Amino acid sequence: MFVVTGATGNVGRTLVGLLAEEGLPVTAVARRVTEADVPPGVRAVAADLGDVASLRPALAGADALFLLVAGEDPEGVIAAAGEAGVRRIVLLSSQGAGTRPGAYPHAVRFEEAVRGSGLSWTVLRSGGMASNAYAWAEPVRLSRTAEAPFGDVGLPFVDPADVAAVAAAVLREDGHDGATYVLTGPEATTPRDRAAAIAAALGEPVRFAEQTREAAHAQMAQVMPLPVVEGTLAILGEPTPDERSVSPDVERVLGRPARPFAAWAERNAAAFR
Ligand SMILES: NC(=O)c1ccc[n+]([C@@H]2O[C@H](COP(=O)([O-])OP(=O)(O)OC[C@H]3O[C@@H](n4cnc5c(N)ncnc54)[C@H](OP(=O)(O)O)[C@@H]3O)[C@@H](O)[C@H]2O)c1
Repeated sequence: MFVVTGATGNVGRTLVGLLAEEGLPVTAVARRVTEADVPPGVRAVAADLGDVASLRPALAGADALFLLVAGEDPEGVIAAAGEAGVRRIVLLSSQGAGTRPGAYPHAVRFEEAVRGSGLSWTVLRSGGMASNAYAWAEPVRLSRTAEAPFGDVGLPFVDPADVAAVAAAVLREDGHDGATYVLTGPEATTPRDRAAAIAAALGEPVRFAEQTREAAHAQMAQVMPLPVVEGTLAILGEPTPDERSVSPDVERVLGRPARPFAAWAERNAAAFR
């Protein structure tokens, strides 16, 4: 049994679908998930990564666990997984855990817990995801405008579907134990480029508006803890050479190149119409 946490998210939903398509037994976990949210044949269990007791029913019969950084007790979650029979854990972490550990203490703690678990493990350090552009869905729908800070700073955003494809591969295949993969897209794109890609997918112009750092900070602080806001703004505004670089790991695992931002925009154009 493959247990996928974050099963209704950008990554988890695709991962559940990929495993289910292979005919593999899957349990989909999120705090709010029902059978209506998952493909036929997938078991849906509502549970909170912040509450280990709530996870035990979800972990029953599990061999492999796809784990998100959420909740405050990674050691408790991993112990419960081991007791349930899990032999392999794939952790979805952030590239910032490697490039700016001080700004990502939560992800660092989860990585340390997974590496010290005594189970087989693989850590996936994702760079910024293409799906962050959903923040533009409403303003693009309403006024064909996309606002972001640091409009000309390029980063190789990764398609969450590629993160899911890598996760499916490392959950199923041997040969990835003890590996830490950095997942990026195939090329750096700037926020201005990404707005243009959405415009191209829509077939209509989208105006890009440069946001001040302060305005972006205030907006992000509504949905993220402050240290993560600071870390994210630092990556967006002053990326390190590693954060600017395209990683070979998606292609290494999947045997095909990572998908460009434009492909994500085309697949998701309906959200911006
Ligand atoms: N976006 C980026 O640029 C980026 C970059 C690097 C790493 N990441 C990591 O990638 C992860 C997945 O990204 P995503 O875009 O797929 O996320 P998402 O679309 O926001 O989905 C998050 C998923 O996790 C579930 N969830 C959240 N908190 C939970 C908890 N305490 N217990 C159980 N389930 C919980 C949510 O469902 P419920 O709300 O119903 O629980 C949902 O299914 C993020 O959480 C982040 O740590 C993201």
